[in-house]
Amino acid sequence: MGFYSVLTMAQRWVAERVELGETVIDATAGGGVDTLQLALLVGPKGKVLAFDIQQEALNKTAHRLHSYEEQDKLGKVELIKDSHDNMSQYAAHGVGAIMFNLGYFPGGDQQIITEPDSTLRALEQSLLLLRPGGILTCVLYPGHPGGDIEAEAVERWAAALPHEQANCVLYRQPQRPAAPYLVAVERKAPRS
Ligand SMILES: C[S@@+](CC[C@H](N)C(=O)[O-])C[C@H]1O[C@@H](n2cnc3c(N)ncnc32)[C@H](O)[C@@H]1O
Repeated sequence: MGFYSVLTMAQRWVAERVELGETVIDATAGGGVDTLQLALLVGPKGKVLAFDIQQEALNKTAHRLHSYEEQDKLGKVELIKDSHDNMSQYAAHGVGAIMFNLGYFPGGDQQIITEPDSTLRALEQSLLLLRPGGILTCVLYPGHPGGDIEAEAVERWAAALPHEQANCVLYRQPQRPAAPYLVAVERKAPRS
């Protein structure tokens, strides 16, 4: 049967944790596949903040959302043309899930890619925004130019998180080191 793709695995881990009515974030909206999935998971009383620095990506995401047949099943989506490392200006603590899918916008300008410094700043903010039990997923592309450096930086960041604060997992094909892989971080409840 084969293993799930990294994108499907990220969506499944998110779906297992997100609750109806809560706020979630798509940190890299791109073509809007994850944004749509998140809008369905939170339902009509929930909210999705979807970030991208490219208007073309946000337009594609808007089109995907508007084309969805069952509009009444979707949460409210705010499309935000800003870098994900400003996300804490738009969201308060208590977010259920934050999805990152790094790299470039397929079909768009492939010179515009996520960058390690802003990605790490956004990941730090994500951890502060997540509620206990909330999840952050990050799909990494070590096979793309620059993607290997970013992937290593994200992995180092995740490995250094104190385990009282968060649990981290890697989902990766060790026989294919250049293939995309997934890092997920689940926020733990602070000890009382
Ligand atoms: C691989 S694509 C995302 C694919 C998307 N999740 C989907 O379902 O189609 C990566 C996206 O990240 C965006 N991006 C790059 N740097 C960014 C930043 N600093 N903040 C937010 N988005 C950024 C790119 O413009 C691109 O659209």
